[in-house]
Amino acid sequence: MKKVLVAYHSVAGHTEKMAEYIAEGVRFSGNEAVVKKVTDIKSENDIKGYDGYIFGCPTYHRDMTNPMKTFLFLAKKANLEGKLAGAFGSYTHSGDAPGLVLDTMEYVLKMKPFHLSSFRLLEDEVDTPVGMRACQQYGRAFGEILNEI
Ligand SMILES: Cc1cc2nc3c(=O)[nH]c(=O)nc-3n(C[C@H](O)[C@H](O)[C@H](O)COP(=O)(O)O)c2cc1C
Repeated sequence: MKKVLVAYHSVAGHTEKMAEYIAEGVRFSGNEAVVKKVTDIKSENDIKGYDGYIFGCPTYHRDMTNPMKTFLFLAKKANLEGKLAGAFGSYTHSGDAPGLVLDTMEYVLKMKPFHLSSFRLLEDEVDTPVGMRACQQYGRAFGEILNEI
């Protein structure tokens, strides 16, 4: 069984909900998922020791949020080179953050983005059965890739 860290920032709760659904999907694949708020992670030692990492961030002002930026600096210290990476977030119109987060994971942290790339979900869809299933499928697909490694 592999272990996945789902670390997220959320202001209004939509990305938080996505994190829980994505973690469920990882568990459906037979793996363990730990969900943490980035603001609760104080040391790089809290980031080390997982087989895969999925980071979640909503888009505000066409950017990722400051707590996610701070967290990514901490993640750099954790040396996640070569680890499987995914990113997600809720949005209303431009949805830039998940792509920006995954770019940082790939080009700065030297991680390995998985084949579904980043995943963004319109805010109004988060609370629908379709939105929930889309999140679960993302997490499950991530876990299934880990099973093959
Ligand atoms: C001040 C403000 C700025 C926002 N800027 C953007 C934006 O640039 N692009 C976008 O797609 N959504 C934008 N949004 C919408 C949020 O991404 C959306 O509400 C999202 O669901 C929030 O996620 P959260 O509930 O996890 O905080 C903005 C929302 C607020 C309140």
